[in-house]
Order: sequence, then structure tokens, then C-alpha cells
Amino acid sequence: MQLGAMPMEEGKDPTVVIRTNQSRVLPQRLLQLLGAFLVLCVTFSIVSIYMIRYFGVHNVVPVSLPSFQPCVEEPTSLEKWIRAPSNLLHTMTDKELLWRASFVPRIKKYPFTRVPKIAFMFLTKGPLPLAPIWERFFKGHEGLYSIYIHSLPSFQVDFPSSSVFYRRQIPSQLSEWGKMSMCDAERRLLANALLDISNERFILLSESCIPLYNFSVIYHYITKSKHSFIGAFDDHGPHGRGRYNENMAPEVNITMWRKGSQWFELNQKLARYVVEDTVFYPKFAEFCRPACYVDEHYFPTMLTIQAANLLANRSITWVDWSRGGPHPATFGKSDITEEFLKRIFEGHTCLYNNQTSSMCFLFARKFAPSALEPLLLVAPNYFGY
Ligand SMILES: *[C@@H]1O[C@H](CO)[C@@H](O)[C@H](O)[C@H]1NC(C)=O
Ligand SMILES: *[C@@H]1O[C@H](CO)[C@@H](O)[C@H](O)[C@H]1NC(C)=O
Ligand SMILES: *[C@@H]1O[C@H](CO)[C@@H](O)[C@H](O)[C@H]1NC(C)=O
Ligand SMILES: *[C@@H]1O[C@H](CO)[C@@H](O)[C@H](O)[C@H]1NC(C)=O
Repeated sequence: MQLGAMPMEEGKDPTVVIRTNQSRVLPQRLLQLLGAFLVLCVTFSIVSIYMIRYFGVHNVVPVSLPSFQPCVEEPTSLEKWIRAPSNLLHTMTDKELLWRASFVPRIKKYPFTRVPKIAFMFLTKGPLPLAPIWERFFKGHEGLYSIYIHSLPSFQVDFPSSSVFYRRQIPSQLSEWGKMSMCDAERRLLANALLDISNERFILLSESCIPLYNFSVIYHYITKSKHSFIGAFDDHGPHGRGRYNENMAPEVNITMWRKGSQWFELNQKLARYVVEDTVFYPKFAEFCRPACYVDEHYFPTMLTIQAANLLANRSITWVDWSRGGPHPATFGKSDITEEFLKRIFEGHTCLYNNQTSSMCFLFARKFAPSALEPLLLVAPNYFGY
């Protein structure tokens, strides 16, 4: 552009000279000047043609500025790379989201003070009837947790701006129990949570879950654990190994086949295994269909294959199967008694960081909306919040 402009500037001068000196100069001189001007014009034309041919038109035509100007200036510091997304309603497709969520820093030591957060991921159908319990639980612990909600796409969660759930809904899609769409929803939650690099542990919860301890106790228990809490059980019966399909080999063989409840807690490393998986996913999508309930097998099996030593092989979500049937018991208003609470807290033993512990469950399900009131009443004494 600069080269092209220079002959133009020079070409102007003779014109100025012609006008001012017209009356005094001889016609001969005028002709000389005109000649010089012509030579300049021809030179300029040749230079222009040469430049268009060799550098392309875009080098001669002035570059127009982009019409979009961001209102907020992009920070140029590290802040830009470690800040959590402020708006969860991005427009990425699942494919784009999983790819973005698989980014991982290769230098293990953070060049800033990183406070690990726990991502509480709510997989729900519609509203969160027990929200007042969670509001009380989270109060005063800002900066140590983040919340994500995946609901039916048609459901618009409406929380006031004072709520911890305000604007925490992620772009969601229809998911059905026992089908791959359920695992897709869980991967979507993990992927969205991984976009905030401060999230270190990831807990999957439902609208019928409650916490059994105050935030500090749960935060400490989870962040100090060397293992992640996911049920991964080698069941030799028809509902365990009986659901294995030999077409899954060699990626998945029967000795690695595991079963567990979907309500997991994963650390960042395991969460990344889940979002980046392209090896096991197609096998499960094709060969684990009802009566193989993929949400009970996919994560426990693929994580056992990839990182068995990081798994506690137990869930931290208490649930009651004693009533029998295909679904666990749901507890309502009249169920919240002292005996019931004792059942939740007493008589358990498990391993925590290789030590025997009686504290095995941090969350419990399933609670009906009618249980909200009595639960709020017993919470200060029994749950510590
Ligand atoms: C949480 O509960 C523990 C054990 O019950 C208690 O020691 C601690 O003070 C409680 N923390 C808060 C912030 O209430
Ligand atoms: C199953 O896979 C594991 C590890 O990938 C391997 O050690 C084991 O020998 C395999 N078993 C069979 C029966 O192929
Ligand atoms: C969980 O099970 C795997 C085998 O599936 C085992 O390697 C691992 O040590 C177990 N975890 C704990 C905490 O015992
Ligand atoms: C826990 O126990 C297992 C086997 O008993 C052992 O391999 C592992 O190193 C132990 N982990 C810690 C952190 O002590």
C-alpha cells in the first residue's frame, strides 16, 4: 500500500508547479513538465500492475477494520486463561464442547495460587424442589464450588439472582434412563465443568439428593481423598457380566466389565478420560443397549480399564434398595424420623485413603418434595448446616 501511494504523491507536485508558474514559464518548459508527468503516470501504472499480479489485490486495497468491536477489552494477562466462563449458555455443539473440554495444561505446577473447587452437577428433569436445602448448604462457601444444571431442554429453570443456582443451567438435551443419551448428558455436564480450570472434583447429583454434612466436612473429605468415589463392582450374575457382549472385545473384555450406580464423584483426571473417550464410547453405544443399561456400566468399566488404582469402587451417595423393585425407595414427609436418620449415618464401614472409616456416605437419595420441610428442621442438628 505504501509503495503504491508514493508515485501518486510525487505525481501531484508537477501539477502544482504547472498552475503557479503558468504565466511566467515558456511553453517549452511546460511541455517538459507534462512529459515528466506522463512518464511518472506510466511508471506508476506498471508498478501497480506488477504489484497486483505478485502480491494480490488485497495488498493494494486498504484493509477495512472488522465491524465488530468487543465492548469489554480482552485482558492481556494470565487472567484471560484461568477465568471461569461467565455465561454458561454457549453455542457449542457436543462435538465442539468435548474437544474444547479436553484441553489440558502440560506443566503440572500452576504459576498462580489455585484454590480447587468442587463442581456440583445436577442432572434433573425439571425443577429442584430441594433447592432451599442446597442454598443453606452452600451459603458462605463462595469460591470453593461451582454449580451446573442439566435439565430437560424444554424446562427453563427460573431462580432469582440471589440464588446459588441463578444462571447455572447448561445447554441441555433429552436424556433417557438406561440409554446412551443419559451418559451423553453426564459427559456434557463434565465437559462444561471442565471449562473452569479451578474445578478439581466433579459430583453428579439428582434433584432428589441431599448433602449429609456441612460444606466444610464434604469439601475436606472429597479434596483430601486419593480415590474417586464411583461404584465399580464385578457382578458375576445375569445383571452384571450377563450384560456383557463379546463384540466389545478387544477394547473391553469380560474381566474388566463393571457395574455401578451412575451417581459418581470423579477427579479432574478421570473427568478428562470421560470427555476425551473415543475408544470405548462407540463399543458401548453399539453393544450395550437395554437390557444392558449403559449408564450402569460405561463409566465404571472404562475407568477401571484406564485408571483402576484411582477408584474407590464405592459410591458416596446413600440409597435404599431394601424395599425391592427396579427403583430405590423414595422418602417423603412421614419418613424423616430419628430412626431413619440413624439408618443413614450408622452401621457403615468402608475404606477411606486405605484406612477403615465409618463415614461412608456424604449424600443421600431419594427424597420427595414433601420431605423438604422436615429435612430443613433436622438439618442443623443432624447435617450441620
Ligand atoms: C461443620 O461440621 C463440623 C463437624 O460437625 C464442625 O466441626 C464444623 O465447625 C462445621 N463447620 C461449619 C462451618 O459450620
Ligand atoms: C482383559 O484385559 C486385561 C487388560 O487389558 C488383560 O490383562 C487380560 O488378560 C484380558 N483378559 C482376556 C480374557 O483377554
Ligand atoms: C478398585 O478396584 C480395582 C480393580 O477393579 C483395584 O485395582 C483398586 O485398587 C480398587 N480400589 C481400592 C481403593 O481398593
Ligand atoms: C493403598 O493400598 C494399596 C493396596 O493395599 C496400595 O497398593 C496403595 O499403595 C495404598 N495407597 C496408599 C496411598 O497408601
